[in-house]
Amino acid sequence: MDDRHRALARAHELAVDFLDTLDDRPVWPRATYEEMLTAFGGELPAAGSDPVEVIEDLARRSGPGIAGIAGGRFFGFVIGGELPAALGADWLTSVWDQNAGLNSLTPAAAAAETVAGQWIVEALGLPGGTAVGLVTGGMMANYTCLSAARQEVLARRGWDVNERGLFGAPGVRVIVGRDRHDTIDRAVRFLGLGQDAVREVASDSQGRLEPAALASVLEAGTGPAILCLQAGEVHTGAFDPFTDAIELARGHDAWVHVDGAFGLWAAASPAFGHLTSGMAVADSWATDAHKTLNVPYDCGVAMVRDRAAMAAGFGVSADYLIGGAGDPIERVPEFSRRARGFPVWAALRSLGRDGLAAHVDQLCARATQMAAGLAQIPGVEVVNEVAFTQVLTSFGDDVRTAEAGHRLLAEGTAVFTPATWRGRGVQRCSVSSWATTAADVDRTLEAVRRVASAL
Ligand SMILES: Cc1ncc(COP(=O)(O)O)c(C=O)c1O
Repeated sequence: MDDRHRALARAHELAVDFLDTLDDRPVWPRATYEEMLTAFGGELPAAGSDPVEVIEDLARRSGPGIAGIAGGRFFGFVIGGELPAALGADWLTSVWDQNAGLNSLTPAAAAAETVAGQWIVEALGLPGGTAVGLVTGGMMANYTCLSAARQEVLARRGWDVNERGLFGAPGVRVIVGRDRHDTIDRAVRFLGLGQDAVREVASDSQGRLEPAALASVLEAGTGPAILCLQAGEVHTGAFDPFTDAIELARGHDAWVHVDGAFGLWAAASPAFGHLTSGMAVADSWATDAHKTLNVPYDCGVAMVRDRAAMAAGFGVSADYLIGGAGDPIERVPEFSRRARGFPVWAALRSLGRDGLAAHVDQLCARATQMAAGLAQIPGVEVVNEVAFTQVLTSFGDDVRTAEAGHRLLAEGTAVFTPATWRGRGVQRCSVSSWATTAADVDRTLEAVRRVASAL
């Protein structure tokens, strides 16, 4: 056996052992970052080590510092699980080691990405011909889409940002809901537009942008504008009123972007599609494959209706590339990149259209089950309208709520993570994994009951 066989065989054994014991492991890591630094630290030895020994050593040292994200009771942040087919495909992606920028060099990777992109566009009911780029996550998907938006709204005013940069360019307004995700602001800063370009629009109790307030903000300015809407607010899971908001934006020639990092997938379900009603007429959409779709980290999806606007910013020609029109490299900021199309294709192929809808429905059903169970526990209040996969809870005042969260992490059965919603401390529960069963929700509710009764 050569070293690659030995290393892979041992990694496979350790991986299977990890998955088999996941259900019994504490979900929150048992070691701190500092402890892990000690575990991994020391000087780089002068001499190398046998690959199998390195793999075993890595698994041994990492063990206490690995969060149970791959299991059924991790509800922190918004972090998806990993579908079996996507996980297997991701391993093959590493083995094949494709640098997936060019159709000529990596035709399998490029084709899987193209087809997976088309499947996503169809499943979400977006316009045919929408250009799709696979990036690292929702943050970069927002950046990629907003880059195309910046390009296009300035081009409409006769300003070529590629040639002339931003100095002296017409000011671009980026109009956002009060509860947009922080990555929108970060993308705006990366794009050189500056935080001053951001205009906030009031939102309602669930975080949905208010159309009347949007109308006032649009009226209050002139010049190029980009409106950022949201499918799935990170606390409440709420969706913006797309039809009304987009109609208003069209009256001002604004580019409309939808950040749907986890919520865009509602469109794939006949039962929840109404939440995204009207969003398909936007200009760009960002989502994640590593959240609701349950592809292993990392994978975001940037989708732009106007292929030319996307390619205008990212297209590249270097004498040593064997490139051509339509290469993946034209749809993303990266030059070299992982072949993320394989696991995305595998996830979608393993689910099929009906399975994808059923997967979304199951996440929502588990969230509803969780919310109903939490509401029954004395001293626990569900704070949001549970429309999708997010559940916010309070355990009374902020101090008790924070303490409940700490105790839940220490207890180890499940993970909720803390946040502040409308000035109030909450614990967030995001149901984002195919691996979460009804029994996992019941086990979590028992743990929350134990924690709440001991507060
Ligand atoms: C609405 C929204 N947008 C963007 C992001 C950022 O996504 P990522 O962490 O994949 O970069 C998130 C993350 O939770 C999100 O909820």
